[in-house]
Amino acid sequence: MEIQAITNGSLVHKQVFKGHPGDTSGATSVSSPSLEEDPITISYPATEVVGHGSFGVVFTTQVRETGDRVAIKKVLQDRRFKNRELEIMKQLKHPQVVDLKYYFYETDPQGEVYLNLILEFMPQSLYQRLRHFVTQRTNMPRIEIKLYIYQLAKCLNYLHTHAKVCHRDIKPQNLLVDPETYALKLCDFGSAKQLKPSEPNVSYICSRYYRAPELIFGATNYTVQIDIWSSGCVMAELILGQPMFPGESGIDQLVEIIKILGTPTKQEICSMNSNYMEHKFPQIRPIPLAKVFKREDEQTIQFLSDVLRYDPMERFTALQCLCSPYFDELRQAEGQDEELRAVVQNLKLTDFSDQLELESLTIEETEKVRQRLLS
Ligand SMILES: Nc1ncnc2c1ncn2[C@@H]1O[C@H](COP(=O)(O)OP(=O)(O)O)[C@@H](O)[C@H]1O
Ligand SMILES: [Mg+2]
Repeated sequence: MEIQAITNGSLVHKQVFKGHPGDTSGATSVSSPSLEEDPITISYPATEVVGHGSFGVVFTTQVRETGDRVAIKKVLQDRRFKNRELEIMKQLKHPQVVDLKYYFYETDPQGEVYLNLILEFMPQSLYQRLRHFVTQRTNMPRIEIKLYIYQLAKCLNYLHTHAKVCHRDIKPQNLLVDPETYALKLCDFGSAKQLKPSEPNVSYICSRYYRAPELIFGATNYTVQIDIWSSGCVMAELILGQPMFPGESGIDQLVEIIKILGTPTKQEICSMNSNYMEHKFPQIRPIPLAKVFKREDEQTIQFLSDVLRYDPMERFTALQCLCSPYFDELRQAEGQDEELRAVVQNLKLTDFSDQLELESLTIEETEKVRQRLLS
């Protein structure tokens, strides 16, 4: 869905809650500033919604008090439950996650309650960005792909290790980009969840082309590694200009994967869903990824093969992705390519927070990883 807005000139005033209580930025508090949960008032030009998404509508406007351009996502709120998307977004703060600035509730004349998430605005989705190149019959530049996939890995490392959240719907439509700065931010936490090893989770999540094979096998004990598979599919799509595994149905999705990666081994099937161990699959030989991606260099091929692994445990973690030689070009930008160096610096791509991004590591590991990520 593309977002659009037509302003009708009038200004609306809304009492809103801050996305991250305790933040001092933004508009002034209407009542006691010491109480973090107190609403504040913001105003913005009224907009008419033109686009509709799968769960609601998103439109854009500008907050008068701060001058910030925002996107407002309006979703139906079930009164019986807390909204998981809101609860997760409140906890997340990272340069590669679309920031929740404020939120408010409203009730329509029929008595339905709607939750409005006021989000940091981004100019377009990665889906739209790719369509731009496809319609011009050109490829997205390799370095642009690398910048986006690096930021996606940085985002997932934060999400998976710090917030312990699995997004469960990584796809080009949910990745927002600014083609001028090459910034990438993840949005749409409508399917996201904190996975606990002891609790099963539904396998019917994630959009078809990007579904990890363990989900197609119906696993309910899957891990955050499903997001890594989806990221590999996104990267492949940016290179190819079309989805790598365009399955026409749930099971056809597996056929598309097998056509390229070959039939999974018994061991791989066991690691995805042990209930399928006895199932007989037609034996298909893999097509080497170097043949699928004929014009890509060895590091790119190696990276894709580390990410598009059947076995979720063998599949690279987000941190392993970041350490891959595929991204060395970004780290070595210094002294080589001034333009790239400026982009990398501006996006602070080599900044890592020990608390938010490297906390799962021991001190020695942190040192090693730091050396790898910075040099
Ligand atoms: N913060 C934002 N800035 C700009 N566009 C956005 C923003 N959030 C969402 N969008 C646009 O709206 C679309 C739908 O939003 P999303 O959160 O993915 O909702 P849905 O749950 O309906 O898929 C996105 O694909 C994107 O094009
Ligand atoms: Mg979406």
